[in-house]
Amino acid sequence: MTKADIQFAEIESADVGPESFLSRKMRHPFFAWAGLRRPLAQHTEAEHHALEKYAKGRKRVVEIGVAEGASAIALRSAMDSAGTLYLVDPFHLSRVPLLNFLRRAAKRAVSGNSGAKTVWIEKFSHEAVRGWDQPIDFLLIDGDHREEAVEQDWKDWTPHVVRNGVVVFHDARLFAGGWTSEEYGPVRFVDRMFRNSSSDWIILDEVDSLVVVGRKDRKIHADSGD
Ligand SMILES: C[S@@+](CC[C@H](N)C(=O)[O-])C[C@H]1O[C@@H](n2cnc3c(N)ncnc32)[C@H](O)[C@@H]1O
Repeated sequence: MTKADIQFAEIESADVGPESFLSRKMRHPFFAWAGLRRPLAQHTEAEHHALEKYAKGRKRVVEIGVAEGASAIALRSAMDSAGTLYLVDPFHLSRVPLLNFLRRAAKRAVSGNSGAKTVWIEKFSHEAVRGWDQPIDFLLIDGDHREEAVEQDWKDWTPHVVRNGVVVFHDARLFAGGWTSEEYGPVRFVDRMFRNSSSDWIILDEVDSLVVVGRKDRKIHADSGD
């Protein structure tokens, strides 16, 4: 599955009218699983490019919050194909857990292509981290968006991120026409942690609602662009 097969989140525009009843109904993940529509990304196309850019060549990639798998497609296609992509999501929001079309749609979308080995961890992130002993090169935090949950993910997972690794937050900044607000948990956490206090981490990049952070003492490689 490529970028062309993904329906990206749209930025508010005057040209977009109200959504029809049919297209609202079609948002159910059943339709993605059945192949009747493209997977819905909860991120913009620019954010997708940024995910690819920062995941490029990475070997140990963790995503917290998979939904229909659109961001996982970006990570899997850009990372080192000899690496491992860990996808953490309990898929707990399905109204019919036995059928769980969100999980089915995600698995269909992510496994649609060849690429890095994929490990599905169907747990809440605070459970998945118990006993975790792998170094991480790239971590995407896009699961539970409450401020305290974002902070918990940060505290639980970043000790495993290698010195030159990056951590990416989604829904973490305001941008023109975007859907975030100052009250969003990731926005509040990122503002508090990286803009309004001293930290061992600094903001490396910001694209729409994405914020990419890395350690201050990371090694700069002239050839890798990071
Ligand atoms: C905003 S969506 C992820 C969107 C996806 N990354 C994308 O860009 O298309 C949030 C997902 O996080 C999952 N989630 C919620 N709480 C979580 C938790 N504590 N740990 C892991 N995943 C969680 C939900 O099941 C949902 O699928």
